[in-house]
Amino acid sequence: MTYYDQVSEAAAFLRSKLGSLNPSVAIVLGSGLGAVADAVASPVVVPCAQIPHFPQSTVEGHSGRFVAGLMGGAPVVVLQGRVHFYEGYTPQQVTFPMRVLGALGLQSVILTNAAGGIQEGYRVGQLVALSDHINLMGWNPLIGPNEPRFAARPDTGLRFTDMTEAYSKALRALAKEAAVEEGFDLAEGVYLAVSGPSYETPAEIRAFRSLGATLVGMSTVPETIVACHMGLEVLAISCVTNLAAGMGATPLSHQEVFETGHQVEHRLARLLERLVPGIAAMMEPNQ
Ligand code: HPA
Repeated sequence: MTYYDQVSEAAAFLRSKLGSLNPSVAIVLGSGLGAVADAVASPVVVPCAQIPHFPQSTVEGHSGRFVAGLMGGAPVVVLQGRVHFYEGYTPQQVTFPMRVLGALGLQSVILTNAAGGIQEGYRVGQLVALSDHINLMGWNPLIGPNEPRFAARPDTGLRFTDMTEAYSKALRALAKEAAVEEGFDLAEGVYLAVSGPSYETPAEIRAFRSLGATLVGMSTVPETIVACHMGLEVLAISCVTNLAAGMGATPLSHQEVFETGHQVEHRLARLLERLVPGIAAMMEPNQ
């Protein structure tokens, strides 16, 4: 069975669970941010283990479930339990869920993640919308034969994907408005992706800062690249779960990342409840 056929089979399985729900917006949750899935009303919950060919997360704090329902009254799909390159998955496996979202007809995706803050002045617990990224993972999920059938829009699914505006300015503007309504300022940042799983050294963080990065993390970039390949609009929001290596007084730990995520997840859920209806209204109606 080809990769394309596996994606199609997973999408058909999920479509059969969605009933009359036809969401245009998807949300992918990062470490410790699972409460966002609990903000979905009238949820249809599918454990990722039941979805054909779906990769299973091996990381603590990434319990895998696909939740569809309403957020702020708008239809939405939330994916909790992304998989990472450092777990030993191939780039194709890491981006399999994103391919399935494209095959399901989603038009926009909100990628959330836990990230280390590189920019002086970022506070732990702060939310930052990505304006751009730097891919230092050492690979690209589009390596290999191009599959034009993944195109979700005209002029996408191409061998060479444009990344000039990988993170939609329009969605970012909506997110900033929603944050102001929630009483906080959503900063903008540049996310640098590494493979992990070791955290960075202080020298790496100094190097990344001089490259223009303000955040560092181990996810999101593969999904953004694949979403751009299919023509989906991307909004990405990082939660600064810790100061990057060498910037704080203590060593880095997954425990800290996870706990900060838990402190912020309800604020993120409220932001998304406000934001999702606006994004859904901006997308073309799904047929
Ligand atoms: N580095 C890389 N990935 C991360 C970090 C970090 O400091 N925090 C959360 N994810």
